[in-house]
Amino acid sequence: MSLQLNRTEFGHPDHHGRVLSREEADTLFYDWVKNPRLQLHMRQVAHLMMCWAKEVQQLSAEVQWRWEMAGLLHDADWDQWPEQHCKKIIEHLEQLQVSPDVLRAIASHGPAHFGVEPVSDMDKMLYAFDELSGLIHAYSLMRPGGYEGMDVKGVIKRLKEKSFAASVSREDIHDACLRAGISLHELIAFIIPRQASVAA
Ligand SMILES: [Fe+2]
Repeated sequence: MSLQLNRTEFGHPDHHGRVLSREEADTLFYDWVKNPRLQLHMRQVAHLMMCWAKEVQQLSAEVQWRWEMAGLLHDADWDQWPEQHCKKIIEHLEQLQVSPDVLRAIASHGPAHFGVEPVSDMDKMLYAFDELSGLIHAYSLMRPGGYEGMDVKGVIKRLKEKSFAASVSREDIHDACLRAGISLHELIAFIIPRQASVAA
């Protein structure tokens, strides 16, 4: 099964800056995604995207929401239509005239799968947060205190254990850090406290 998108342009330039309201995005999210574990993953990635846009990039509230929306909807079609991931959500958001930068970030969140290179900061951070966030969450579930007291060293240890959260691609994580120009250490340290605040 190939998920290659076979295109490099997403959305229409005239629609730059257009977004769904939070209510519209939530409706789409709960309509399409029924699996609570996937919902949590998407909400975690959405929160990390918003925090990075706000704290590191110091972008306006308007742009922060575009980052957050890309995180919130990046796997929206994975639950019900895995064979059409992420073609289906992109086409749907195109019909809704959503901003091309959001569409492009979703399209490039797995370059090895979708064949679209992450270019912008939004693209690169969505790719960087996606797999690593999942591994850190899996680690929290096996710790008695969850996120409490979790440190970077512990996460790196789990990362090196290939059998731990085996479906998480270590290759993608390293590739994403390189592309984003941040160290693995820095990225993990950013994720832990912020992801801890997303309620299950
Ligand atoms: Fe994801």
